[in-house]
Amino acid sequence: MFSKRFKQLTPYTPGEQPQNRDYIKLNTNENPYPPSPMVGEYLKSVDPDILKLYPDPASQELRETIGKFYNLPSSKIFVGNGSDEVLSFCFYAFFDKENGPLLFPEHSYSFYPVYCSFYDIPFKRVSLKTNFSISVDSYYKEKNYSGIIFPNPNAPTGTYLEPKEIEQLMNNTDKNKVVIIDEAYIDFGGKSAVSLTNKFDNLLIVQTFSKGRSLAGLRVGFALGNEKLISALTTVKDSFNSYPLDALAQKAARLSIEDIDHFKDNTSKIIKTRDFTVKALKEKGWEVLPSMANFIFIRNQGVNGLDLYKKLKDEGVLVRYFGHPGIEDFIRVTIGQKKDMVTFLKNLDTIGSR
Ligand SMILES: Cc1ncc(COP(=O)(O)O)c(C=O)c1O
Repeated sequence: MFSKRFKQLTPYTPGEQPQNRDYIKLNTNENPYPPSPMVGEYLKSVDPDILKLYPDPASQELRETIGKFYNLPSSKIFVGNGSDEVLSFCFYAFFDKENGPLLFPEHSYSFYPVYCSFYDIPFKRVSLKTNFSISVDSYYKEKNYSGIIFPNPNAPTGTYLEPKEIEQLMNNTDKNKVVIIDEAYIDFGGKSAVSLTNKFDNLLIVQTFSKGRSLAGLRVGFALGNEKLISALTTVKDSFNSYPLDALAQKAARLSIEDIDHFKDNTSKIIKTRDFTVKALKEKGWEVLPSMANFIFIRNQGVNGLDLYKKLKDEGVLVRYFGHPGIEDFIRVTIGQKKDMVTFLKNLDTIGSR
């Protein structure tokens, strides 16, 4: 009854979205603040008659608006149903079993190995430095690979590389292999490497509206890069689903990217709360990896990561626990509103004193 392909699937496990009780949700890196008020005004004013028609398959106006924000023509922009879909199309378009493994960091976004298994692409995890940051040098010595991908800032560690380090990577790796920088968390203090796409035809930047623009529920992601890469993604899209973005999402995303003041205000509140949380944790003796994301990755000597995750859950605070070898005592904590972080910190004290 089921295909061989289907039987081999190993799906990604997203962070819990429990419906049974009210949790302080610090487990899926959602933004705790509302999206631009222009999004709400638009959604309230929608005439349902527009839904009779299919949306623009090219999402032209949205791509032009993103282009204005990044100073790029729409021909260098691809949009999809969340950056997960954009990433999936990238894996399909750019990486091949015959060309060797796809390289990504030892600890990274857990969807990458899932797409590799989906598209039958071998992969190789490249070691992080002992401080858990990405070492670009360790990619230079790799000779046989089909491409490179990593998030910047990396997930779940939060560590960040400056654009000049991405440039070094591009200068020292094969110009015929696509390098994808997944900038899902770039809006929280990092600097995008997007301008490097004008210099390197094999560099693709992927971003999302889910984090910095508080629109995880709208499902809009995008890729920025050379026309040839963008056109390949469009071919994949049109071989799968011509209309991945519905009419409401296209318009709402446009309005949100135009509201620059709201975006700056929203992201700077999170950066401030991250600084507050990191300082408080360090004062309590926690190890906190340097983070440029809307989450932090933390551990404490003598504290078992799984145990801590469970105890916090019992107290009504959800964080993310991975349990992978090498990071088994870390938990990843999304930066919520300040009041949520105060409750989280209080819970750590209560759990620790038991
Ligand atoms: C590193 C990374 N990339 C991409 C995504 C996907 O984001 P979305 O599909 O909501 O755009 C996530 C989601 O958490 C992520 O952590």
